[in-house]
Amino acid sequence: MADKNSSQKAAEKTQAALMDKIVALCKRRGFIFQSSEIYGGINGFWDYGPLGCELKRNIKDAWWRDVVLMRDDVVGLDASIIMHPKVWEASGHVGGFQDPMQTCRQCRRHFRADQVWDAIVDSDWHASLAELFAGLPETNLLSVDSAALMKWAMGKGKKLAPGLALVRDPQITLSWLAERVQKEPQKPLPKPDMLRYLATAQFAQTGLVTPCPNCGGELTEPRQFNLMFDTYVGAVHDEENKAYLRPETAQGIFANFLNIVNTARQKVPFGIAQIGKAFRNEINPRNFTFRSREFEQMELEFFVKPGTDAQWHEYWVKERMKWYETIGLPASKLKPYIYKKEELAHYASACVDVYFDFPFGSQELEGIAARGDFDLSQHQQHSGKSMEYFDDETKEKYIPHVVEPSAGVDRIALALLCNAYFEEWAPTSEAAGAAPMPAEHGKQPPKGFESRVVMRFAPRIAPIKVAVFPLLKNRPPLVEKAKEVFHLLRGRFSAFYDDGGAIGRRYRRQDEAGTPFGVTIDFETLGEKGPDLKDTVTMRDRDTLKQERVAIKELPARIAEVVR
Ligand code: GAP
Repeated sequence: MADKNSSQKAAEKTQAALMDKIVALCKRRGFIFQSSEIYGGINGFWDYGPLGCELKRNIKDAWWRDVVLMRDDVVGLDASIIMHPKVWEASGHVGGFQDPMQTCRQCRRHFRADQVWDAIVDSDWHASLAELFAGLPETNLLSVDSAALMKWAMGKGKKLAPGLALVRDPQITLSWLAERVQKEPQKPLPKPDMLRYLATAQFAQTGLVTPCPNCGGELTEPRQFNLMFDTYVGAVHDEENKAYLRPETAQGIFANFLNIVNTARQKVPFGIAQIGKAFRNEINPRNFTFRSREFEQMELEFFVKPGTDAQWHEYWVKERMKWYETIGLPASKLKPYIYKKEELAHYASACVDVYFDFPFGSQELEGIAARGDFDLSQHQQHSGKSMEYFDDETKEKYIPHVVEPSAGVDRIALALLCNAYFEEWAPTSEAAGAAPMPAEHGKQPPKGFESRVVMRFAPRIAPIKVAVFPLLKNRPPLVEKAKEVFHLLRGRFSAFYDDGGAIGRRYRRQDEAGTPFGVTIDFETLGEKGPDLKDTVTMRDRDTLKQERVAIKELPARIAEVVR
């Protein structure tokens, strides 16, 4: 058990280090930068550099193609970001889009009340408390070494805010635990819960409040905090002119439902799709871009006949889970989270989230909800316009129900970046034909190999599809031919021309960019080594490092075959 816990801890450390490496690569290679970095950055906002914006564009193009262009029953929309403020009253965002927030009276940090305990359990000083329990079976907490607990409390207590030691009296804690375990000896007590129990037992008996995860200080009572960013339309900044940056793209779709029914010649069941920016004043932006204050959504509102919700919901869950595999996220890292009845919003009949295994844990990429007629009915009520749909086949009139797959572009980009990152040992001379192998942590590569980082993006999603290199940049005929090949390819695929540095270094740069193909123009291409190889190039595969000779005229088809 002790071993398992220490190996679990080691795994967590490795995952955190992996995340740091991914963040560093994103900056180094121009995927993602902190917004306004030259001014010290602004929390929760990110800028996508040359590679990042191509990656995002490919995600959005893949979604648009599969959800809109390749279907007969979905049409697109591009609504404005700022809408009439009544839209947000009708949707419930003005009254209800809020998180409970607590502020530390000592260090002034803000926390989402429902995440305080996660932050405490994650924090360094608390991790050391967990260490005390590391070797114990979860149902046998009675054997906690109380002297060790006391020592811990005295050591750590000093670092906490005055009078707010988490474990002020270990004996009280232990006796409470004893009671708890005796009452329910069979009930497993997972570690975060155990820590929570430890503290709440303390609080019940000592009147302590939940400590700040940052400094141990006292937190305020939770206050409701609306997540919408507001702004003012026109010159006068008063309540009457207040408007909101949209917190989701979905409401633009509902507000245009009648326009689209009247113009798009679609019949229920049909969908309206939109991709665009959304803004939420998140209390704790975190995990790199995962929880940002400005992000992009890809939302589909699929309108169905009442009573068919369950079958369409099931259909869209299957479609959406499959889609992630088409952009290169493996099924083994994707999980559906099926909401329990008590977790559903009052109007929803079902909801499934698509979770992905990030280095920082399994987290949501997309939610697929069956929302009934809630949104259209709300807009009908608030706008006074009928949202009823007339089915001219059955002559029925009804407000359609909706199934909503709602995905985040930035989260998908982050999932793709995390999934693509590999550290390998690659042969120093690729021409020798040896295959790369996974790098072993803390060890040096064997002779003839060197370390490389490679982003194994699915070709469909890779920011650059092909890089073109003249073998040497000081030989005009090589450069001229390489430029000719580059121009042949760039009109069809995102291509990159690079003549800087040794060819090996150029390959490594493209490995980190995740470019699936490298094309080198050499003396054989020019026909200097015989007529057979004239007008052929070396095509290098990013993953296997295999190199083959391909005729220039065949390149577009060869690349297209893999990329599309
Ligand atoms: N219209 C439904 C809706 O907006 P949501 O679960 O709040 O549902 C949908 O958001 C998706 O938008 C999430 O699954 C996530 O991918 C993305 N998303 C939500 N909040 C985000 C944030 N703060 N940062 C990045 N992406 C976010």
